[in-house]
Order: sequence, then C-alpha cells, then structure tokens
Amino acid sequence: MKALLTIEKLHKDFVLHGQGGIAIKVMHDLSLELHRGECLVLAGRSGIGKSTLLKMLHGNYLAERGSIRIHFDDGLLELTDLPTHAWHRVRRDVVGYVSQFLRVVPRVSAREVVMEPLLARGAYAQDARQRAETLLARLNLPERLWSLPPGTFSGGEQQRVNIAEGFIGEHPLLLLDEPTASLDATNRDVVVEMISEAKARGCALLGICHDEDVRSRVADRLLPLDEHLMARTSSQETF
Ligand SMILES: Nc1ncnc2c1ncn2[C@@H]1O[C@H](COP(=O)(O)OP(=O)(O)OP(=O)(O)O)[C@@H](O)[C@H]1O
Ligand SMILES: [Mg+2]
Repeated sequence: MKALLTIEKLHKDFVLHGQGGIAIKVMHDLSLELHRGECLVLAGRSGIGKSTLLKMLHGNYLAERGSIRIHFDDGLLELTDLPTHAWHRVRRDVVGYVSQFLRVVPRVSAREVVMEPLLARGAYAQDARQRAETLLARLNLPERLWSLPPGTFSGGEQQRVNIAEGFIGEHPLLLLDEPTASLDATNRDVVVEMISEAKARGCALLGICHDEDVRSRVADRLLPLDEHLMARTSSQETF
C-alpha cells in the first residue's frame, strides 16, 4: 500500500535577517514515510526541529528544499510548492493539527472553537455543536466552561479544547505537538483512546510526545531526529 505521506530530503534553515543574517540549521535531508493507520512519533532533544517539521507540514513554515507529498486514491499533493491560497483547503480537509498551545480568540467560546473545523466544511450548526459537545464531555471538560472563551482556562483545560478542535475534523493526516503534556492521567488515557480510534479509521498520525507511557501506547514507530541534523549540530552559523 502506498504511503499517505512521503517526505524526501527535506531541508530547513532559519535565517535571522534582523540579527546580521545568522543561520540556524535545523533539518538536513529528512526523509520518512507514513501510512494510513500508523502513528509515528518524533524523538530527539529539545530544539532539534520536531515542532518545525510539524509546522512545515501545516504550512506555517516553508521548506527550503526537498518534497512533502500526500497521496490520495485519486492523486498527489506536493506541499512544498503549494500556492498560498490552496493551504486553506489543505488545512480544512487534509492536515489536522493539535498545536502545543491553544490559539485563543477573544469572545469565541470553547464550544465554538471546537465546532469551527466542521462549520468551515459547511456542516449544519446543530450537528457540529453536538459533536463538539460529545468530544468536550469525553475529555472531561466541565460543561459550565463550554460557553466561555478559553483564554482564562487552565493549561490542561486549554489543551483539551485544542485536542477536541484537532480531532473533530477526522483529517486523513493528524499532527500532534505534545498533546498530553498538561493532562492528568485520566485525560491522558482518553487521548490515547482517541489516537487508537483515529488509527483504526485509517488516519495517519505524526506526533511529538515526551511522555514515555503515552508514547509506548500510541507509537507504531519512533523516528529519532538527530541523524537528520547537519553533520555537526552546534547548529548556529554566521554567514
Ligand atoms: N521561526 C523561527 N525563527 C528562527 N528560529 C526558529 C524558528 N522556529 C524555530 N526556530 C529554531 O529552530 C530550532 C528547532 O526548533 P523547534 O521548535 O522545532 O524544536 P523542538 O524539537 O520542537 O524543541 P522542543 O522539544 O523544545 O519543543 C530551534 O533552535 C529554534 O530556536
Ligand atoms: Mg517543540
């Protein structure tokens, strides 16, 4: 079976133009394949480029060189040269993302944050609301919080809103940036179950997860990123 995601020789530097052109070399010749129903967890020390990779897959950062291809039954999408206007549809329909921190929008309630990915696809508000509430309840977010904007929520409460928003769209590819970092054991278990269910319905997951227990329960494979760094990873170089 063809991989859902194929990354080949991906390369990323950050050039800090405001700092005399300092280049931070992050990724060199990274290649990987990810299949439907599989969960690959990125490993490696802090600052090695794990979140950067997820952000390239979600269109927040541009790749320098290399290719990121997503295969569908009826075609292929090359993300590295996707026109800007096409990213909206990719994020809506193809690549879901649970970021490490919730992007809080003032006056938008937790329930509406979670409904949004379905509304963006034209779902009926009533259906979107019901699915959002089901997920929030499953993640044990107290009902009294559902109609409040999550700006004042605790770290773990915000993380659960973020997880619900990321999972509700059932995208074919789901990116998870430390989704359980702020959660207690009960809610970590819920997230592990949600990841298992996503795998069972054919979702491909690429994640970062420092928690050994969660990692061992969800990961089909680990990818240590160190070997993909530039040869000597003092990692900073001046032009
Ligand atoms: N927008 C940016 N501009 C400049 N440098 C950046 C930018 N984003 C990330 N970096 C740098 O790239 C490197 C990789 O960062 P990244 O956030 O991907 O690390 P990480 O592996 O996710 O680390 P952690 O485990 O701490 O989350 C770091 O040295 C970071 O400072
Ligand atoms: Mg990170």
